[in-house]
Amino acid sequence: MAADRIEALIARMTLEEKAGQLGVFADMVRPFAPDVNPDANVRNAGQVLEQVRAGRVGTLFNGVGAAAGREIQRVAVEESRLGIPVLLAADVIHGMRTVFPIPLGEAASFEPALAERSARATAIEATAAGLHWTFAPAVDIARDQRWGRGAESSGEDVTLGCAFAAARVRGFQGDDLRAHDALLATPKHFAAYGAVAAGLEYAQVDLSPQTLHDVHLAPFRAALAAGARTLMTAFNDINGVPASANRWLLTDLLRGQWAFDGVVVSDYTADMELIAHGYAADERDATAKAFLAGLDLSMQSGFYGAHLPGLVESGQVPMAVLDASVRRLLRLKEAIGLFDDPYRSLDPAREADTAHLPAHDALARDAARRSIVLLKNEGALLPLRRGGQKIALIGPFAQDRDNLEGCWTLFGDKTRYVTLEAGVRAALEAAALLEVVPGCALEAPLDGGIEAAVAAARRADVAVLALGEPQRYSGEAQSRLEIVLPAAQQALAEAVAATGAPLVVLLRNGRALALHGAVRDAAAIAVTWYLGTQTGHAVADVLFGAYSPSARLPVSFPQHSGQQPFFYNRPRSGRPELPGMAEFKSRWREISDAPLYPFGHGLGYARFAYAAPRLNTPQLAWDGTLVVTTRVANTGAVAGEEVVQLYVHDRVASRVRPVRELKAFAKIALAPGEARDVVFHIDRGHLAFSGADGAYRAEPGVFDLWVAPSSATGEPVDFELLPA
Ligand code: NOJ
Repeated sequence: MAADRIEALIARMTLEEKAGQLGVFADMVRPFAPDVNPDANVRNAGQVLEQVRAGRVGTLFNGVGAAAGREIQRVAVEESRLGIPVLLAADVIHGMRTVFPIPLGEAASFEPALAERSARATAIEATAAGLHWTFAPAVDIARDQRWGRGAESSGEDVTLGCAFAAARVRGFQGDDLRAHDALLATPKHFAAYGAVAAGLEYAQVDLSPQTLHDVHLAPFRAALAAGARTLMTAFNDINGVPASANRWLLTDLLRGQWAFDGVVVSDYTADMELIAHGYAADERDATAKAFLAGLDLSMQSGFYGAHLPGLVESGQVPMAVLDASVRRLLRLKEAIGLFDDPYRSLDPAREADTAHLPAHDALARDAARRSIVLLKNEGALLPLRRGGQKIALIGPFAQDRDNLEGCWTLFGDKTRYVTLEAGVRAALEAAALLEVVPGCALEAPLDGGIEAAVAAARRADVAVLALGEPQRYSGEAQSRLEIVLPAAQQALAEAVAATGAPLVVLLRNGRALALHGAVRDAAAIAVTWYLGTQTGHAVADVLFGAYSPSARLPVSFPQHSGQQPFFYNRPRSGRPELPGMAEFKSRWREISDAPLYPFGHGLGYARFAYAAPRLNTPQLAWDGTLVVTTRVANTGAVAGEEVVQLYVHDRVASRVRPVRELKAFAKIALAPGEARDVVFHIDRGHLAFSGADGAYRAEPGVFDLWVAPSSATGEPVDFELLPA
C-alpha cells in the first residue's frame, strides 16, 4: 500500500537523509541565464549532483530542461542510497515559454476562468520543460501601490483575489495531480506580505488580527480549498513574529484550525533571515525556531541539513516532528506519481513538441487584450481607424523588446515577442500611416528626442504615447517612493501635448500610477500593464477596435502618490469628506481623498445602462438567500462585455465597516441593443466579518447594496439581515 511505502522509507532514513529531504536548493545542474539568485548559487552542477547522490536534497528549483532533469532524477533514483526522486520546482509565475500578462493585469480581466486557462497553458509548457512544481500563485493582497510585488498579485480586493487565487491553483494543477502536465501550485507569501508598512519591501507588518484574517488570509483559504498542497511563507514578521517562524500561523492556524496537511516551504533563505530580524541568535537557533514553528522545507540557506540532525540528537527537536515533515514531503512526491514514475514530466520529445504551441499564442493574445483597461476616452477618440489616419507612435516603449513581459518571467521565449510597433503595423492598412519615434529613453532624455517627437506629432492626425514604468520597477525589492512616470517621459508627454495633437496614452505599468499633467489630461488613456508575448497584437486589437476593452481596475488609481496606502474598501471615517464640507474632514490639504480612477472602473466601446437592482425580498432571513436581479442593457453601437459588480455596506456594526466591499461580479457579453438580467445570490456568508471579539460572523441589521460598473458609481438599495 502507498502509505506503507512511505513509512518503510522513513524507517530506513538516517537523520541526515531526513534533514536532507527538507532542503530546497538552486538547480545549478540546469540553470538558466540570467540567474536571479547569483549571490547564493555557489554550488556548481557537480556539487549539486553529489548532494543528490548523498540524499542531501529533496527539491531543486529554478532550473529548466527535460534532458538534464532526467539526469538529475537518474542520479537520485539509481545512485542515492534510498532512491528517492527529487522534486523540480521553479518560479513560473505568468507563463513559461509563452508569457501571459502579469497577474495584476490578468486580474483586471475580472475573468478567473481566463486565469485558469492561462495557468493551464503555463503548466503544460512548464511540465514539458522538466518541472513539477511552481512557486505560484502569489495571493498577497496589495493595498499599497508603492510595494513592488502587487504586480504578481491580483490587486487590492479580497473577493477578486480569492477568485483568482482559486482559479490559478486549479489551472496549474489540473484535474489529476499524477498527470504528466499537472504542476503543483504554491500560494504565497504566507502571510500578509502585501501589508508591509509604507509599501517598503521586507519591512514590518503590524496589523489587526481582524484585517489579517478577513483580508490577507482569505485568499490562502480560497487557494487551499481549490486544492493547493503547498504554501510558501513570507519574509515579513506579523505583529513582531516572523511569518517563517510563526507557530501560531504555521501550526495553530494552518494545521490546527485549517487542517492543512500539505507542505510549507520557506521563502528564499527566510529561516536564515530570522537572525537578521533579531528573532534567532544563530543558525542553530534559527533552524529550531523555524522548524518547530511548522516550517517543513528550508530554501537555500542549508540550515536544515546542517542543524536539524544535531537538534534531534540533543532532544530539542523531537524525531516525530522531523518524521512528520519528511512524511508530508514524501506524500507530496507520491501524490504526483514520482515514486511510480520518477521520470514524469521529463520527456525531451514532449519538451520539443511543446516548445511553441500556436494555441498558446492565441490564448496569450486574448488574455492580453482582455487585461487592457481603458480609463478614459474623450470624444470617442478610440478606436482609431486602420486607414485614412496618420498615427505618430511616440515613446520609449514603442519599439522596446525588453519591457514586454514584466517581472518574474525567467523562461519566456523572447524570439516570439510582438512589440507595440509590430502589432500596430500589422493592423494598419498601409505602412506609410505610421511614424515611430522614441522621444526619450526609459529614464532619460535623448538628444533631439523631444524635437523629433513633436515634429512627428505635428505631421500626424493622432499621437499615441507609449509611456510607463520600466519593468524592473515592479516585482521583488522594487518598492517606489512615488508611483509616477519617470521625469523624462513626463517631459516628452508635455511637449507632445503642447502640439495640440489628439493624444492617446498607453501606460505600461506594474502597479496603479499617479498620473499628472499632460498624461492625466490626455483624451484617451489605457492601462496595458505588461502583457507578455502578444503585447503588440493585443494592444492593436484594442486601439483599432477589433476588440472592445472589457477589463476593469483591480487597484485604485489615486490622484497622488501621497495617498498611499489607498484602496477603495476602507473603513468609514467619522469625518468623511462630503461635497461642500472641506474643513476638518478626512482629506489632504492639497486634494480630496478620492481616487482619480476607482477600483472596478474601465470603459469599452459599447455603452451599458443598469436598471435598479431588484431583490427577492427586502428582508434576508438568517439562513436565507437574497436574489439580486439587475437588468443590464447595451445601449451602444457595438458589441461589448461588461463587468457587473455587486458591492455591499453594513450600515451599523460592532466594528467600523468598509464604505463598500465587492462581494460578487459577473462578466457578460451583450450585442448592441441587447439586455440581460444578471442574477447574484447573496447569503449571510457574504456579509460576515471578524468582529471586535475576533469571531467571524454576520451581524443582523440594514445593508446597502449596489450593482454598478465600478466601486464609485451606482445607486444603493437596502435590505435587512434578520436575526437567527
Ligand atoms: C524570493 C521570492 O520572494 C519568492 O516569491 C520566490 O518564489 C523565491 N525567491 C524563489 O525564487
